[in-house]
Amino acid sequence: MSTNTATASNTNAISVTDLNKTVVTQEGELTILNGISMDVKQGDSVAILGPSGSGKSTLLGLLAALDTPTSGEIFLDGVALSKLDEEQKAALRKQKVSFIFQSFMLVDTLTALENVMLPAELAGVVDAKQKAQNMLERVGLSHRLSHLPKQLSGGEQQRVAIARAFICEPKVLFADEPTGNLDKANGDKIADMLFELNQESDTTLVLVTHDLALAKRCQRQFLMDNGVLTEAVAEGLPKTLAPHCEEVS
Ligand SMILES: Nc1ncnc2c1ncn2[C@@H]1O[C@H](COP(=O)(O)OP(=O)(O)OP(=O)(O)O)[C@@H](O)[C@H]1O
Ligand SMILES: [Mg+2]
Repeated sequence: MSTNTATASNTNAISVTDLNKTVVTQEGELTILNGISMDVKQGDSVAILGPSGSGKSTLLGLLAALDTPTSGEIFLDGVALSKLDEEQKAALRKQKVSFIFQSFMLVDTLTALENVMLPAELAGVVDAKQKAQNMLERVGLSHRLSHLPKQLSGGEQQRVAIARAFICEPKVLFADEPTGNLDKANGDKIADMLFELNQESDTTLVLVTHDLALAKRCQRQFLMDNGVLTEAVAEGLPKTLAPHCEEVS
């Protein structure tokens, strides 16, 4: 697969045109995403807010090439996802994308350390173990290296998932409610890490969150409502977004 055409500096990290996702259920056809278009520049930070069930996780999965739209096109770092087969999509994800899942998706049989090491080992990083240890230390888990996911609390599992997502310094980081299970101190620490990665490595951030304080730290904010995505204007932000968010003081 060639992704060389994607590296021009003016290439958007993400470009989406008229994206639709429909599924067939027992009750009939269900439209989850309806005519979504957006462009995100490399290095931008973007928050997506909206009520439960509005389609935020579905959109994130599509943007990260984990799912296929019903119609519309997604360019990830200049590459049209519709042109790739599953193997090529997997290669693109490995090369450019990290994903923090709402449900963490840790490997049950691997320890915290092994979970974080995994993507680095797959990418052939020589000092994967040391890097993984450093990452776990940064998220405050150096005392839990050998714990299995089931032996960790929800917030600890989330921090392992965050450490795993950071280890390969992705070009684009998708995070689905990355601070959803954390107390304020840990949530702030994770948010700081996200924006450090954004600034130091020019990583594009796409965050789904109910945390208005986190959303406000992003350069741009979008609101998902019943499968329709609109960009919020900065000055109207608190009023527009407040019903779907928890303001953290
Ligand atoms: N494969 C599927 N089949 C049927 N319905 C689906 C499927 N995937 C998602 N949905 C429905 O689409 C809607 C959007 O789901 P999604 O997970 O994207 O919501 P969300 O905005 O992330 O919500 P939350 O804030 O609760 O995480 C939900 O009503 C969900 O039940
Ligand atoms: Mg969701």
